[in-house]
Amino acid sequence: MAGEWILMVTAQTPTNIAVIKYWGKRDESLILPVNDSISVTLDPEHLCTTTTVAVSPSFEQDRMWLNGKEISLSGGRFQSCLREIRARATDVENKEKGIKISKKDWEKLHVHISSFNNFPTAAGLASSAAGFACLVFSLAKLMNVKEDHSQLSAIARQGSGSACRSLYGGFVKWIMGKEENGSDSLAVQLADEKHWGELVIIIAVVSSRQKETSSTSGMRESVETSLLLQHRAKEVVPKRTVKMEEAIQNRDFASFAGLTCADSNQFHAVCLDTCPPIFYMNDTSHRIISCVEKWNRSEEAPQVAYTFDAGPNAVLIARNRKAASLLLQRLLYYFPPNADTDMNSYVLGDKSILKDAGIQGINDVEALPPPPEIKDKIPAQKNRGEVSYFICTRPGRGPVELSDKSQALIDPKTGLPK
Ligand code: DP6
Repeated sequence: MAGEWILMVTAQTPTNIAVIKYWGKRDESLILPVNDSISVTLDPEHLCTTTTVAVSPSFEQDRMWLNGKEISLSGGRFQSCLREIRARATDVENKEKGIKISKKDWEKLHVHISSFNNFPTAAGLASSAAGFACLVFSLAKLMNVKEDHSQLSAIARQGSGSACRSLYGGFVKWIMGKEENGSDSLAVQLADEKHWGELVIIIAVVSSRQKETSSTSGMRESVETSLLLQHRAKEVVPKRTVKMEEAIQNRDFASFAGLTCADSNQFHAVCLDTCPPIFYMNDTSHRIISCVEKWNRSEEAPQVAYTFDAGPNAVLIARNRKAASLLLQRLLYYFPPNADTDMNSYVLGDKSILKDAGIQGINDVEALPPPPEIKDKIPAQKNRGEVSYFICTRPGRGPVELSDKSQALIDPKTGLPK
């Protein structure tokens, strides 16, 4: 090792939405959960983290930037991930650049990490899941770690529990495991994203001024005070995960939707059962649930599933494109944008759903008829401005390394964010 070289890897990692929720730890520092959980990985084209990790003998310390701003790496969670990855580093040779790093060298070398979310970090869209998964995945590539994705998931888990499920695309299960050291608490893929490709996901980013309780402290309080959490972990989730796996394997949407909605509602019931109670959903969230429930009940079979994490945003999973366009019409009917909003910034992601719904501009939204299921009833109230924007997406792939050097977030000359 000589000279002032820099070696870099860039990777992209998706977010995920749990359909069977993780809520509660049996071990706080290793991040071991009280129950299994199951998630759908979201298409990274619309929601992902991109991370570049760089190593150079000229770096004096480990440093990290998130969306261009330097953040501290001193927290225990970052330190666990860095330590676990370093411990598994192997020899690296780059003949083109004439660089040779031996397994032992990694103990002394420092890294620079630059991470960027293609969605607003503050919107409450599981940014820590994609972030820690991407950190672990890109460092593993840089350091030539030989472990498979499942073993890497057990490292990402120590950054943030839900991050372990972002090491795979499609449908993913986080097995809680039994071991005290957490070695068997890891993610496995149930099915890839193509298995059930017709699903369409619409996220309603709900306007909120409320400062939410973080997942970490919220679940700690639930573990300490909620009897419903104990019952859920012991009696409900084990049976529900079996049924959910079957529903996914058989692409049985009616069962999938029933289980997804029930599990989201039970997670929020556990939050209410916590002392003092935690409120993550707000009136807008409740209005979205009513809209979906009313519509599902008026059809022969459920068209849409809803699920909410530790915040008011709704994640709606439609059975196919047709159902998604009918859902979008309903959502835009109840939650039209403010008069001066451009539709292009109100519906983000896969805009073809908007086209399917026959909506080009704000005038088309204003002209939407009330959904038939509320016919002959009192005209529904409109809730303008309650939703900040919608994102249309679908189940997506797992982490990938980006070989195109122009996508790197670190300047190969300075070793600092571009
Ligand atoms: C409601 O993974 O954010 O989104 O492990 O403390 O970092 P920590 O918590 P986090 O919790 C996510 C909780 C959830 C449900 C889920 O994703 O399963």
